[in-house]
Amino acid sequence: MKKGPIRPAGDPGAEPSREGSVLHPAPRDDDAQFERHLRPKTLSEFVGQESLKANLRVFIEAARKRAEPLDHCLFYSPPGLGKTTLAHIIARELGVNLRSTSGPTISRAGDLAAILTDLGKGDVFFIDEIHRLSPLVEESLYPVMEDCNLYVSTGKGPGASALKLSIERFTLVGATTRAGLLTGPLRDRFGIIGNLSFYGLPELEAIVRRSAAILGIPIDADGAREVARRCRATPRIANRLLRRVRDFAEVQSQGSVTGELARYALERLEVDAVGLDALDRKLLQALITKFGGGPVGADNLAIAVSEEMDTLTDVIEPFLIQSGFLARTPRGRVATEKAYAHLGLKSPSKTLDLL
Ligand SMILES: Nc1ncnc2c1ncn2[C@@H]1O[C@H](COP(=O)(O)OP(=O)(O)O)[C@@H](O)[C@H]1O
Ligand SMILES: [Mg+2]
Repeated sequence: MKKGPIRPAGDPGAEPSREGSVLHPAPRDDDAQFERHLRPKTLSEFVGQESLKANLRVFIEAARKRAEPLDHCLFYSPPGLGKTTLAHIIARELGVNLRSTSGPTISRAGDLAAILTDLGKGDVFFIDEIHRLSPLVEESLYPVMEDCNLYVSTGKGPGASALKLSIERFTLVGATTRAGLLTGPLRDRFGIIGNLSFYGLPELEAIVRRSAAILGIPIDADGAREVARRCRATPRIANRLLRRVRDFAEVQSQGSVTGELARYALERLEVDAVGLDALDRKLLQALITKFGGGPVGADNLAIAVSEEMDTLTDVIEPFLIQSGFLARTPRGRVATEKAYAHLGLKSPSKTLDLL
């Protein structure tokens, strides 16, 4: 059986990851290739996010009619909900090239200049993890975003001067898991800001069926529903689970994914009926048993489950909060009644009720 992370670590080299952990090894090249293969290419293939999609359609159409570049776009959401996919779709729908990089990769303003001077008119420049740009690089982006002027400093000390470079008008598409970490001046320079939310069950089922069709996996309605129910409402995870379930199907049921087979495979993969994986349960368990259910600070909670803070806040928590297992309060993280019930633990308020 192929082994790999159930919950992916975002795009390789991007987004907060769990690289190096035994349970969640770093994504391999074939994972990235697999993602590209399943990536919708047009807005109509992109499932869900209806209002964002409808708005983008209008903006793209208007830009095309005026033969002008699209306004700069910022997309934010937890990992795996379609930000990178949308950046590629936008470039394709506009009929322009896409140049892609990520915040931590551009370490000097010179790196930025090299990319920008190479862009053609109207091209899309995609910056993943844009909240991780260095302050200097970020500041040199402001005038480029506004009026296509890039100032590059030459020389050092008192003799230093700034060279002004004119850049072709282009569209910056930024993606981040943390809109809150973006500075005000950067955020204000985006004309289009879109939040991608977790997907609903019918949309996830559609994504699973679409991916199964592309991969040639026979799957029935019950099988698709089961994968959809257990993927943390995240298309990337739905695709990964489908791939793992296929392994079980090929070995144990002539390749066909039925509901029963999917349930069996997902249990073997330690994904439970509501889609929580081993790490989600470990986090809730730690919160309840080590910190009395909270409130506890995210830093202490991260240490308790041996994860980075960023991974905790950007990758693990959003789904637990959205599905009502965890609450974020001003004093820290708190386990909800639903979390106690899910883990089969007695909650303190119930204990009080019993007294
Ligand atoms: N709305 C969608 N419809 C179909 N597939 C999707 C959708 N959103 C994401 N995916 C799939 O999930 C995977 C991860 O999407 P991606 O755009 O890389 O997410 P992000 O950049 O937000 O982490 C892609 O391979 C893509 O196939
Ligand atoms: Mg991405």
